[in-house]
Amino acid sequence: MTSSLTLEGVSAARGGDRIWTDGSFSIGLGAIVGVIGPNGSGKTTLLQMMLGLLPVASGTLTVLGEPPRRGNPRIGYVPQNYTAEIGESIRCRDLVTLGRTGARWGLGGRSGADRASVDAALDAVSAQGFADRRLSQISGGQQQRVAIAQALVGDPDLLLLDEPLANLDVRHQHEIVELLRDVHAQREVTIFVVVHDLNPLLSILDGAIYLLDGHAHYGAIGDVVDSELLTHLYDTPIKVVRTAQGDLFTRS
Ligand SMILES: Nc1ncnc2c1ncn2[C@@H]1O[C@H](COP(=O)(O)OP(=O)(O)OP(=O)(O)O)[C@@H](O)[C@H]1O
Ligand SMILES: [Mg+2]
Repeated sequence: MTSSLTLEGVSAARGGDRIWTDGSFSIGLGAIVGVIGPNGSGKTTLLQMMLGLLPVASGTLTVLGEPPRRGNPRIGYVPQNYTAEIGESIRCRDLVTLGRTGARWGLGGRSGADRASVDAALDAVSAQGFADRRLSQISGGQQQRVAIAQALVGDPDLLLLDEPLANLDVRHQHEIVELLRDVHAQREVTIFVVVHDLNPLLSILDGAIYLLDGHAHYGAIGDVVDSELLTHLYDTPIKVVRTAQGDLFTRS
């Protein structure tokens, strides 16, 4: 297996409506990949197809060299609006344990190995300091850390994060980006991350999937960060600026 995601003539549909068509590309293992596109363009839909939660409308999609299947333990997932879906009264450590014990949750079967991997995941995201608080008692940035710990606890080969920077201020966005950089370096995991603003992630992305004019495309990050492409994608003027230090950013 050499690819994290391969699409051959893939189309996505929901409730009979085509969302996007003609996805044909292959992305290697070990990359950090952005998924970008306007609201409603089908970013979450793509992740749901990779997770086997939604069938492909046509074509062939393989994830980590296999057809998508529900509950694939090789994939860690943080859904969009994670906190709203999960409820706020659960303790952070229990939430992370849920990622490890899955179906065994509630049956009391938590082994020493489970506890060790929960601790390792909490360590990886620097969340031990608030692990015994409830989700309602920590900040949005801390909640996002706990969510990533839950996705990491099964030691996945692929991490799918749907808008992990939403509702975070610039400093907390930066902290999550640094966290992704560290997790990627330490765990050899491929990371797909849905974002609206590419700027905070530019330094860590290898490439991006972009949903443009009803089609899915993939490009290396240097090709995607292009004034004309981003202006077309977001339907608003966007400039790509490179500073003397070599930093790249976009602005409207
Ligand atoms: N459960 C559903 N049933 C039917 N249609 C849906 C469902 N969820 C989303 N859609 C539609 O599918 C399209 C793609 O939605 P999706 O959630 O994948 O977009 P997105 O790119 O993730 O958007 P956002 O940036 O707002 O999160 C939208 O037109 C949306 O209205
Ligand atoms: Mg979405």
